[in-house]
Amino acid sequence: MKVVSLFSGAGGLDLGFKMAGHDIVWANDLYGDAVETYRANLGDHIICKDIFTVNEEEVPDCDIIIGGFPCQGFSVANTKRNVNDERNQLYKQLMRIINVKQPKFFLAENVKGIFSLAKGQVLKMILDDFTSMGYKVKAEILNAADYGVPQLRQRVFIVGVRNDVDYSFDYPKPEFCADGSHGLKKWIAVGDALSDLPDPDEPNNVPNHDYSKYKLRFNGYIGHRTIDPSKPAPTVTARGDDKGGVVVLHHPNNQRRMSCRELATVQSFPIDYAFSGNRSSVYRQIGNAVPPLLAYAVAKQFKNYTEE
Ligand SMILES: C[S@@+](CC[C@H](N)C(=O)[O-])C[C@H]1O[C@@H](n2cnc3c(N)ncnc32)[C@H](O)[C@@H]1O
Repeated sequence: MKVVSLFSGAGGLDLGFKMAGHDIVWANDLYGDAVETYRANLGDHIICKDIFTVNEEEVPDCDIIIGGFPCQGFSVANTKRNVNDERNQLYKQLMRIINVKQPKFFLAENVKGIFSLAKGQVLKMILDDFTSMGYKVKAEILNAADYGVPQLRQRVFIVGVRNDVDYSFDYPKPEFCADGSHGLKKWIAVGDALSDLPDPDEPNNVPNHDYSKYKLRFNGYIGHRTIDPSKPAPTVTARGDDKGGVVVLHHPNNQRRMSCRELATVQSFPIDYAFSGNRSSVYRQIGNAVPPLLAYAVAKQFKNYTEE
């Protein structure tokens, strides 16, 4: 299918769609470093500008519009979360473009927090908005670990199918589980996922394999907990710390923080997917991304449509 991607960031969601054989014809983000990363790995079809200034006429026709709209206003991590948060209006930009382009499908990814925000009112509002635009809409939480990502990351995938399109979208079935029972594979442990990477303190040619030297703290907060190498990692975030940096997971040896490359591996990016920008920017781009393997699992489900 022909894909238009909004809020594309460094391209995690788009890489999954590409891996599933879809053709991304146009993408957009305003974050210069992420756009540079995207271009270097996925192609020149990304435009660097604010979505508020994107004219619908410059967006090509497509079968599906995908977008992980910014989640700060929605996240449970944000204690000031509020239905009226300015940033929540960014999803309306996604709606504006979908409304004009009327693709057969859309896919909007977000944090699990939108399910509980304002006692579910925000999600209801989003689903009602898309329904009134002529789409059958559903939303489901998927856990990246269930699709082979070495990370417990739960995200909401809102999927719309245009009313006149005869297709029922099915969410992908888990392929992995905690104990490897019921014919599923066992969740991938973070220690195993990182075991092939060289020590970042030794000379190596691995891209983005450097790490923040911030002192480790074990205070129980996200990013400051002991990591168990035998389990999938906790959620990688793009959240800032109180010093203007990014909260970064500890390496499972619990002696230092993960390098950007290690964090990218925990997000299931391939080893040659190089990121542009300084270390904080790279950590942030990685934390913002949809894990490509999870995106691939979802994107494959749309392949069924073209094969029918
Ligand atoms: C959650 S990230 C998306 C990550 C991406 N889906 C991926 O998998 O790598 C949200 C993105 O929205 C972008 N963004 C925020 N405000 C924007 C705006 N006004 N116009 C365009 N992009 C914007 C941010 O720069 C960020 O890259």
